Amino acid sequence: MDNRPIGVFDSGVGGLTVAREIMRQLPGENMIYFGDTARVPYGSKSKDTIIKYSRQIVRFLLTKNVKAIVVACNTATALALKELQKENTIPVIGVIEPGAITAAKTTETKNIGVVATESTIKSGMYTTFLRELDPQITVVSKACPLFCPLVEEGWTDDRVTDEVIARYLHELKDYEIDSLILGCTHYPLLRSAIGRYMGEGVKLVNPAYETAKSLRVLLEEQQLLNTQTDRGHYTYFVSDGVDNFVAFADRVLPCEVKLTSIVNIESY
Ligand code: DGL
Repeated sequence: MDNRPIGVFDSGVGGLTVAREIMRQLPGENMIYFGDTARVPYGSKSKDTIIKYSRQIVRFLLTKNVKAIVVACNTATALALKELQKENTIPVIGVIEPGAITAAKTTETKNIGVVATESTIKSGMYTTFLRELDPQITVVSKACPLFCPLVEEGWTDDRVTDEVIARYLHELKDYEIDSLILGCTHYPLLRSAIGRYMGEGVKLVNPAYETAKSLRVLLEEQQLLNTQTDRGHYTYFVSDGVDNFVAFADRVLPCEVKLTSIVNIESY
């Protein structure tokens, strides 16, 4: 009924894993993606900075007449989602709650691992959500800052990456975790390598997948689903470095990125 696009934003290329899930699960929707490639990474920045950046991006997306916004970045979700939800009348959803709900539902040992950026881990947002859902849950978290550059380098299946994974995750093996939340946009691209290291007993939760599922429910409930034939249009904007963005997008997305434009995001 509503063919306005969904606005999706991230600190850079990582949110394309969320965009990909939205394309797969909601093929009838149009989408505007913004990647803040000039100011990435968000994962080591302060709350005030992330709120400022996120507000600018939302102001930009609103000029594109979006009907809902997905904060496709764990760090921005952890540090800015609440403010964005308070300030905007259209629905704004993040990636943390959907992943946390799934992990809380599936864990049997009640021990859940979370891997994410430094800022996401420091915010304690995953732990807060999980323990609100079930106070018996114990959360073991670990910041893994080297995972993002490894993914961007394309080393998703590489001996060096396997070593880095072992170095970060070995301490998680001391706890009886049966679920591990991949709480950073890039980490689902390391799913096979992380899965190999953690073993079959640990279920990997991909917040990107769960977010697209939540988005569908939200659009249905608010009668915002696009049922018109004008569908599947995806437009990309970045704040810098179009070529790198397109090269990464072509590795991740199921369709070719035809046009990416640069936005002076500081002016919003
Ligand atoms: N997109 C960020 C996240 O999910 C990771 C990259 C960054 O640090 O900006 O937390």
